[in-house]
Amino acid sequence: YMNYRVPRTRKEIFETLIKGLQRLEYRGYDSAGVAIDGHNNEVKERHIQLVKKRGNVKALDEELYKQDSMDLKVEFETHFGIAHTRWATHGVPNAVNSHPQRSDKGNEFVVIHNGIITNYKDLRKFLESKGYEFESETDTETIAKLIKYVFDNRETEDITFSTLVERVIQQLEGAFALVFKSIQYPGEAVATRRGSPLLIGVRSKYKLSTEQIPILYRTRNFENVKNICKTRMKRLDSSTCLHAVGDKAVEFFFASDASAIIEHTNRVIFLEDDDIAAVADGKLSIHRVKRLASDDPSRAIQTLQMELQQIMKGNFSAFMQKEIFEQPESVFNTMRGRVNFETNTVLLGGLKDHLKEIRRCRRLIVIGCGTSYHAAVATRQVLEELTELPVMVELASDFLDRNTPVFRDDVCFFISQSGETADTLLALRYCKDRRALTVGVTNTVGSSISRETDCGVHINAGPEIGVASTKAYTSQFISLVMFGLMMSEDRISLQNRRREIICGLRSLPGLIKEVLSLDEKIHDLALELYTQRSLLVMGRGYNYATCLEGALKIKEITYMHSEGILAGELKHGPLALIDKQMPVIMVIMKDPCFAKCQNALQQVTARQGRPIILCCRDDTESSKFAYKTIELPHTVDCLQGILSVIPLQLLSFHLAVLRGYDVDFPRNLAKSVTVE
Ligand code: F6R
Repeated sequence: YMNYRVPRTRKEIFETLIKGLQRLEYRGYDSAGVAIDGHNNEVKERHIQLVKKRGNVKALDEELYKQDSMDLKVEFETHFGIAHTRWATHGVPNAVNSHPQRSDKGNEFVVIHNGIITNYKDLRKFLESKGYEFESETDTETIAKLIKYVFDNRETEDITFSTLVERVIQQLEGAFALVFKSIQYPGEAVATRRGSPLLIGVRSKYKLSTEQIPILYRTRNFENVKNICKTRMKRLDSSTCLHAVGDKAVEFFFASDASAIIEHTNRVIFLEDDDIAAVADGKLSIHRVKRLASDDPSRAIQTLQMELQQIMKGNFSAFMQKEIFEQPESVFNTMRGRVNFETNTVLLGGLKDHLKEIRRCRRLIVIGCGTSYHAAVATRQVLEELTELPVMVELASDFLDRNTPVFRDDVCFFISQSGETADTLLALRYCKDRRALTVGVTNTVGSSISRETDCGVHINAGPEIGVASTKAYTSQFISLVMFGLMMSEDRISLQNRRREIICGLRSLPGLIKEVLSLDEKIHDLALELYTQRSLLVMGRGYNYATCLEGALKIKEITYMHSEGILAGELKHGPLALIDKQMPVIMVIMKDPCFAKCQNALQQVTARQGRPIILCCRDDTESSKFAYKTIELPHTVDCLQGILSVIPLQLLSFHLAVLRGYDVDFPRNLAKSVTVE
């Protein structure tokens, strides 16, 4: 966070940084740290103070106020502070490994990093051979040492901060979003990214100099790294910088997610890979080393529509709970303006120009991770039915491991709530390289996946903060169904089916409310189950994905062992697990698999299993054999999974609370997995 000509006390600066971190805590939360100016406003006396702490952001906040060397009332007219919350990739969670990482004991350069540097071992070896001593086990520390190395070996005295960073990132492999601060460049900030998201928020009550920041390029290509400082950038003048007109007060916020800064400003600039953004004298400029033919020559200031209350918890005890209960509205928002219930038509604006091409394709490949993958599994059958195309569903990591053949007449869908999941993003680039048409289905405007795909659908579920994904799943599900409906508009033979599904979509918000009213009953069930070690979830057909997703929710937030089992596979192995003790949830809906599910139910009860059955309200057959039932309203078969997953979301929530766990921040998990 940088304030330029806006007087702020140290306390206010802390508050801005800490609040920003709290909003980002869902991305990782094993340790946190800040770097701020240590002394007063006098440049001469500047030094950087680092405060780092293992634990959550609250622990860091408490630590800050214990530091008696820091006068909280000191006012800074211009100041640049950085802060970070970490989710360990290299090195255990502790204060030394947390960020900011530093170049030396004097904190000459400090850096915060989101991502992973894959060649850090080689860099570290090189720097150690030059006498640099490392204190942490992190990949990030190599970046801090490397910038100092470049600075120590500079050819000219007047090398700029951004040139140093430019030289550093040329040596880095992997993914990163980086923000640097240095004693050598007081009041200046440099930020850059490759593969990890980074945006800059701008706030000023004065008019801004521009709405489009032109990108600056080096005027000469340099092959020889030694000459890098001698080549010049296009001249930096007022028209190539963003600032408050008349050099008036302006604040800049650098963040990996808009939720960290939205309470300060909704005016943001999304950086692209290899952009280097620098603020000096209150002016922001962006440069890139080389100009590629496909480069956009400027970065626009965009206005985000996100509201702060959208990301607050409200009356709920956890974000996850709030998000489960938001589903009547979130699924409505996913359909709003897209499904016309009068004419039985669906229009997804982001896909309409590509529809012809999609209809001609060889096959659809739907790719995602975790819950997003389950949304693909859940809708595979209806997509096959409505598009009459072969549909492959793929876990992004496995898809890449197999070097799956992809062709230019394939259409590849990338499902991702965050739009930043590294595995999914890499799969997207893999498919792009093979010239397939790429379609993003994300919940985050401006995310890497939404920007890098050829076209896409925004699922419009609103910000999802709880690490366990809930409302994004149901909205992804609906988005894929809407795509199938749009594809089948001209198919005479499918008109009745389309009408039935569209009619089902219309009644979904109301039916979801009915399912949510079962919350107390599900809480009672959780009271019976919360001391168990395992919980099986079994079903087939349209509801196989419900079982996978329910089991994932249970394991990730309750830490119980839970498995989603395809009922058709029961006698090929899982039946051995069934006995009087093992709790089994069976999802049995009135759909074409009903008879087969009855069969599985018989097998379970014959082994003295005591099934808890999720079934339709009018299903007297299943309830006869049930130990307990949760009865749900009925909807069209291919949408039933939206209703049947909700009791499992609620159950996992209650189990986690009863077991005493932090529902929103399960151990070892982060909301957005931006590393491979
Ligand atoms: C589970 C969960 C994860 C994510 C997965 C993909 O509750 O949240 O399994 O679904 O990490 O994330 P996105 O959808 O952001 O690509």
